[in-house]
Amino acid sequence: MENTSTTTSKRVSILDQIPQSNAPSPSSVPSTSTIPVTLHINGTEYNLQIDPRVTLLDVLREYIGLTGTKKGCDHGQCGACTVLSDGYRINSCLTLAVSYDGEQITTIEGLAEGEDLHPVQEAFLHHDAFQCGYCTPGQIMSAVGLLLEGHAKTDADIREQMSGNICRCGAYANIFAAVRELCDGEDNSNANA
Ligand code: FES
Ligand code: FES
Repeated sequence: MENTSTTTSKRVSILDQIPQSNAPSPSSVPSTSTIPVTLHINGTEYNLQIDPRVTLLDVLREYIGLTGTKKGCDHGQCGACTVLSDGYRINSCLTLAVSYDGEQITTIEGLAEGEDLHPVQEAFLHHDAFQCGYCTPGQIMSAVGLLLEGHAKTDADIREQMSGNICRCGAYANIFAAVRELCDGEDNSNANA
């Protein structure tokens, strides 16, 4: 699933992300210490120096620039921030980046192999499983995790195991159809969710 053929190394510092003109004066903010963390994201190694309180979601979006992972609620309730850690689904908004030091993280940007989309991405396109698309990266990552876990045997299983991903547009019927197709190889374009 992950493209490990283009492994490179980058060093990113939080301090590098703060525009000099907007940087607060040292006396106006509480002093914090940063620690070194190495994250492996989509086959790329990132050596970071970060505040240990920073979430994985904010590291992905704000410090590394992988904005495919969305921030919806920022409270673990919508699933927009879903990424995979060693193939398991996690809500990156509830995850401290330092706790994934050395772990393999996969985001929506890491699914496709060049121009070849992941089968879950193809299924979402095939079934029109999105409207505004804001929830879509999280829905797709959750579906990939569901398939890797291999526990979804029934329609009720799929609904239950995708229930942590909320779609404000109500695209559930087509999301369900896309995941259902991949679970059993059937085309369920007309399935009702
Ligand atoms: S942004 Fe993480 S669950 Fe909503
Ligand atoms: S497609 Fe708009 S929130 Fe799901």
